Amino acid sequence: MRKLLPDHAAITPGDLPDAYECGVDRGWFVRLNFVATVDGSVVGGDHRSGSINNDVDGLVFHMLRAWADVIAVGAGTARAEQYDAPITDERWRSLRAGRPEHPAMAVLSTEAELPPGMDTMGRDDVFAVDSSGPDGVRTALHRLRRRGYNRVLLEGGPTIAGLALGDDLIDEICLTTSPLLVGGSAHRMVDGAPLDLRARLVGLIESESTLLARWSVR
Ligand SMILES: NC(=O)c1ccc[n+]([C@@H]2O[C@H](COP(=O)([O-])OP(=O)(O)OC[C@H]3O[C@@H](n4cnc5c(N)ncnc54)[C@H](OP(=O)(O)O)[C@@H]3O)[C@@H](O)[C@H]2O)c1
Repeated sequence: MRKLLPDHAAITPGDLPDAYECGVDRGWFVRLNFVATVDGSVVGGDHRSGSINNDVDGLVFHMLRAWADVIAVGAGTARAEQYDAPITDERWRSLRAGRPEHPAMAVLSTEAELPPGMDTMGRDDVFAVDSSGPDGVRTALHRLRRRGYNRVLLEGGPTIAGLALGDDLIDEICLTTSPLLVGGSAHRMVDGAPLDLRARLVGLIESESTLLARWSVR
């Protein structure tokens, strides 16, 4: 694995938290995390992301979960990817020092309902948030902020990402480009109304042709 930006260095998985500035306290900060193929698809042939991600993306996915106070996710993704309560990966446990063992999870839903069959493991920090209406995503994320969740990891999907970006709610996009092309007409990372935003590359790591990028949209 090698870091290309902001400086050039060979790195190991243990260096990833520094590369993603996981220890920096920025107050309220919203990260959007996605994996996409070289041709821009966020799903493979099975309509899920599991067929386009890989080990190094999984490392970052779990590290960002450990970084987060709360994982926010659209109901569509929670259903498609069969989400359950998040459990912190052993490797990244130290990132949670001084905080609960696992991040909370908020499912953004127009019905304020968790997907049928979702296992909350009896945890009351796994909940649905009403995000219906034109300002629904903004209201839902601000509700999380009022509950004291400052580090927000938004795991999409494309509908919620489009609404959040359109409402200027995202600070940083963590985007893995997986070295695959899948064609077809699958989802891109963002659906919905046109946007007019610029992103600035703040970090880039390469590992076996997978690119791990951090894009600031502030
Ligand atoms: N590659 C990746 O990193 C990645 C990441 C995430 C998702 N995905 C893929 O993306 C696909 C899902 O995409 P998606 O766009 O359907 O998922 P989504 O953005 O997670 O969820 C969309 C759903 O959110 C709910 N919702 C809540 N508030 C809303 C509002 N204000 N306006 C509209 N809808 C609102 C609606 O469901 P209700 O009507 O039930 O409330 C809507 O159907 C899946 O195939 C998943 O695998 C890929």
